[in-house]
Amino acid sequence: MNRPLYIITGLVATTMLFAACTVDPNAAGVEYMPDMYRSPAPEAYVDYGSNKHLDWTQQMKDAAGVTPVLSRKPVAGTIPYTGSALTAQFVMPYPLNNTPEDYERAATEIKTPIFATEKNIEKGKLIYTRMCMHCHGKEGHGDGAISRNGFIEGIPDYATKLKDLPEGKMYHTITYGKGLMGQHASQLNQLERWQVIEYVKCLQQGVSTPEYENGMLKLAAAAPAASDSTATN
Ligand code: HEC
Repeated sequence: MNRPLYIITGLVATTMLFAACTVDPNAAGVEYMPDMYRSPAPEAYVDYGSNKHLDWTQQMKDAAGVTPVLSRKPVAGTIPYTGSALTAQFVMPYPLNNTPEDYERAATEIKTPIFATEKNIEKGKLIYTRMCMHCHGKEGHGDGAISRNGFIEGIPDYATKLKDLPEGKMYHTITYGKGLMGQHASQLNQLERWQVIEYVKCLQQGVSTPEYENGMLKLAAAAPAASDSTATN
């Protein structure tokens, strides 16, 4: 090896050495083959060129009869997998439609799959406080803040006007909405809807602070029969 070659090799090595260093202590320096450092992080629903139809003009799509979609909607009637029969019942489609006839059918055909346990009622109370109280009022008399402010009037009292409203109709109303009450199906899953209904059922009885016995709702003791003071015997 001759001398100039040594010098050139030395210079190149020194340049590479300095080029590899940067002033920023957080910088990784020069990266050779960056894909070895950083793994690719593909995002869901992003097309990375695998769907060739995306770049087609509408004319080409029409000619070929293709609809380019990245994420397809599940087939109608698809039921999410929940892993257990117990939870599966809460993802079954609601069988009734948003019609006055089906609202009436809900009264007899739709029954709650849950029990009046402390867990269900207290969860229902929490949902009620957050999502219903501003209209229906703390005790369910239809006197929530929105009603008092006059924005929505005529909200019925659970304990009087709606005292005998069946749970199926409640479920139907929460699912589809009724009158000035919007639907709540997009905010409450089916279990949550039934839980809030368990609490509304307490309000129908005029009970806003339910009591429990062994984790179950303590049923209000039957009022003692009024003694007949007019009895003469
Ligand atoms: C924007 C105010 C508003 C909110 C929020 C609201 N409601 Fe209502 N709700 C109403 C009105 C108004 C009615 C009367 C609807 C009618 O009969 O026209 C009603 C009616 C009802 C009824 C009687 C339905 C029937 O079939 O007659 C139930 C039960 C009920 N609401 C429960 C709830 C529950 C539970 C929530 C919370 C998840 C809730 N509401 C949230 C305004 C509201």
